[in-house]
Amino acid sequence: MPIRFWFPIRALRFGARGSTMAKGRYGGRLRSSKWSTFTLVLSMLFMLTVVLLMLMAFGIVSLPESTDDSSPNDLSSFRRRIVERSEGLGKREKQWTEVISWEPRAFIYHNFLSKEECDYLIKLATPHMAKSTVVDSKTGKSKDSRVRTSSGTFLRRGRDKVVRDIEKRIADFTFIPVEHGEGLQILHYEVGQKYDAHFDYFLDEFNTKNGGQRIATLLMYLSDVEEGGETVFPAAKGNISSVRWWNELSECGKQGLAVKPKMGDALLFWSMRPDASLDASSLHGGCPVIRGNKWSSTKWMHLEEYKV
Ligand SMILES: *[C@@H]1O[C@H](CO)[C@@H](O)[C@H](O)[C@H]1NC(C)=O
Repeated sequence: MPIRFWFPIRALRFGARGSTMAKGRYGGRLRSSKWSTFTLVLSMLFMLTVVLLMLMAFGIVSLPESTDDSSPNDLSSFRRRIVERSEGLGKREKQWTEVISWEPRAFIYHNFLSKEECDYLIKLATPHMAKSTVVDSKTGKSKDSRVRTSSGTFLRRGRDKVVRDIEKRIADFTFIPVEHGEGLQILHYEVGQKYDAHFDYFLDEFNTKNGGQRIATLLMYLSDVEEGGETVFPAAKGNISSVRWWNELSECGKQGLAVKPKMGDALLFWSMRPDASLDASSLHGGCPVIRGNKWSSTKWMHLEEYKV
């Protein structure tokens, strides 16, 4: 370290010599004393810098790195940043994630949509609602069915700013690119309407041509339902009666692991396991609505890009 102190000492000597040389001249003394004060201040500043640098090198003093106090690997800070970044219509309530099952892998994103976004999607879809169909597992074509009695419509992917914001948010939360998703499907169930238990993955060749197999589903509830209308997983492993809302479930809801529709909440579940095998525990259905109306929106996501 002595080398670092060499400059200020030289500077001090220089300053001293300067003052001797200036002797005998009016103003020279003043100029030289000014000069030596200047060098003194300069060298002290320099030494302070050196000391500070040494302290920093030994980690005794550190510069503030960012205003965010959470470490970059903290998942909750990552999620918070996503939430803050993604725009959208209206103001969303407090958002939090709940793991409800690992077999199937199912999670609830509470307050995923704002009330304004839910109302917007319902308003967009209302003029186009048609009786829902199911996919015939033999021919791969759509057909009418008694197992699914709702009405619904598809909204083209990226059709407007609000839809694009929601689709971006879905991609952020599922880690599946926007391009892998089908258009949002909006569904309406009136009293008595339901969707019997089924898989979202396909067992035919026809439906996997575009985008490959369906990997996961995000089901967003656009309305509250007074009674019934739960999403139920009859093949879920684990204690189905341990959910907080067990006592509020309909008879149908108690047949499996159930999620009660709540406006703005989103249910994410995976049809495929991490090893890409089909997960039969993802069997699920929509219980009949007993009181009220159920509006929901589904985003199906595929293994590969889904062309629209
Ligand atoms: C399931 O969970 C409920 C509520 O937490 C509890 O009362 C019950 O004993 C559990 N059943 C089993 C088999 O663990």
